[in-house]
Amino acid sequence: MYPSNEKIEVNVPKKNPFSMSPDPQLFYFSGQHVACLQTLESSIRLRSGLSVVLGDVGTGKTTVGRILMRLFQDKPDYIFRLILDPQFVDELEFLAHLSRLFEIKTKAQSVLEYKEALQSFLYFKGVNEKKIPVLIIDEGQKLNEPMMEIIRSLLNYETNESKLIQVVILAQMEFADKVRSMPNFMDRIAAAYVLQPFNEEELFHMIGHRLKRSGYEDMYRVFTKSALKQIYAYSHGFPRKAINLCHQAYLAKISEQLGIIDEDVLTRNMRRKEVSHV
Ligand SMILES: Nc1ncnc2c1ncn2[C@@H]1O[C@H](COP(=O)(O)OP(=O)(O)O)[C@@H](O)[C@H]1O
Ligand SMILES: [Mg+2]
Repeated sequence: MYPSNEKIEVNVPKKNPFSMSPDPQLFYFSGQHVACLQTLESSIRLRSGLSVVLGDVGTGKTTVGRILMRLFQDKPDYIFRLILDPQFVDELEFLAHLSRLFEIKTKAQSVLEYKEALQSFLYFKGVNEKKIPVLIIDEGQKLNEPMMEIIRSLLNYETNESKLIQVVILAQMEFADKVRSMPNFMDRIAAAYVLQPFNEEELFHMIGHRLKRSGYEDMYRVFTKSALKQIYAYSHGFPRKAINLCHQAYLAKISEQLGIIDEDVLTRNMRRKEVSHV
């Protein structure tokens, strides 16, 4: 079901192996990322309501969201919508945003009217058209209590068998405290997954995978083993940090026409980063 990490097409055009954008092509399907995607996928398919993915900065939450949308992209029954930055001045703005996002035609002006419009939309889509709206909210730790109350009220809309909207919240760990202080919201969570940093082996696999995708079959022709170990030690297995470091060293390799990246090149680039506070 998930693309195999081993199945690399031949003649892949060379691209930056350490691009920071959440590029599904460069995604390494690690055990935990697959388990997380499976959890979300089945929760959505079973129409269980609310799923939450927690993880520290740079553990892959945004990328998981993109890949989840891709997994459903050829399934017309699902209507995916994404909120990248859920900061709204008040409930009205949040509701108006949701209505626009799902292209709901409404003359609503008040909170109540918007809620009614959303409710009829969800019933119409779910019951008449058998469609499944899915709302992904990234940076979920930015949600405040009134927004979470609105999400909770949307999750109240259901048929006998299932919820009429599926919500996936991707959030930093601190969101857990917020949720704990709102037991009614916590009750709604049907599935949860916590993304951890990679262990050393997984991190090397991820780097190897990114290099393969970019045309480098053997990662040991790009990094020495001890350079890789240093990347793990410095990044503590956090993908973003590791990729950032690989990227700096890779740029140096290209611009200075270096051979294999060894510990010296890495240390030099780590220092450069510290000096420039990047
Ligand atoms: N499994 C993975 N394979 C390849 N790259 C990954 C993986 N997980 C995370 N990354 C990369 O790490 C960086 C941070 O990921 P991101 O999804 O932005 O994390 P978060 O949203 O948790 O801060 C991105 O450049 C992303 O492409
Ligand atoms: Mg993110």
